[in-house]
Amino acid sequence: MNYTLQIASRPLHILRDVALRVEPAEVVAIVGPSGSGKTSLLMLLAGLERPTSGQVVVAGQDLTRLSEDELALFRRQTLGIVFQSFHLIPSLSALDNVALALEIASPGLKAQATRAAAAEALAAVGLGDRLHHRPSALSGGEQQRVGLARAMIAKPRLLLADEPTGNLDQKTGAMVIELMFDLARRQRTAVVLITHDPALAARADRVFTMTLGELTEAGPVHA
Ligand SMILES: Nc1ncnc2c1ncn2[C@@H]1O[C@H](COP(=O)(O)OP(=O)(O)O)[C@@H](O)[C@H]1O
Ligand SMILES: [Mg+2]
Repeated sequence: MNYTLQIASRPLHILRDVALRVEPAEVVAIVGPSGSGKTSLLMLLAGLERPTSGQVVVAGQDLTRLSEDELALFRRQTLGIVFQSFHLIPSLSALDNVALALEIASPGLKAQATRAAAAEALAAVGLGDRLHHRPSALSGGEQQRVGLARAMIAKPRLLLADEPTGNLDQKTGAMVIELMFDLARRQRTAVVLITHDPALAARADRVFTMTLGELTEAGPVHA
């Protein structure tokens, strides 16, 4: 797959011949310098951008053939995303932040069932006693665990995480990543994790390096 933008009527090659296959429950980490194309790759995997050539197939769906409406549905039902800056809704409790994601993915579910599932998802990330806290009353690590519960509540086939520990200290970041990998393996979710931290990348099943828009599989990483 290739991704090229026209900038000032010149082609800017952002991703070149990128090939990546991730199996259910498999965790893949991508490392690489700033500006190498890591976030661009996630945007393509999320169907937020379209490749210039080639295919992006997620859970059997070729995203390049979907309309914008179909892509929106795909993102609600098939994808989980975790961001560096947690992007929680500040006026909503932890419970309501997570419940809202499930409500959007599964509008047919009864409100009570949605809230019960959200409480369970928060308990699974160790926040069973923080259900009614707003994000501002939570630590960074706790906020990111809410973000993780929100991303995983609708049982996505693919979880995308773009430097999810970038705002956390090393120890907290490692704990969030452990939780993420553990949840993903239990729910059989494939994970693509972008990280700057080689020690975190080393916990993935496979590690890739992005360099100037080219993705190569790294040998075993020694952290
Ligand atoms: N919409 C855009 N317009 C112009 N350049 C872009 C755009 N999106 C990404 N780029 C360029 O593509 C390259 C890769 O960016 P990005 O994927 O954000 O890298 P990374 O996440 O590895 O830091 C950078 O040189 C960036 O400036
Ligand atoms: Mg980036």
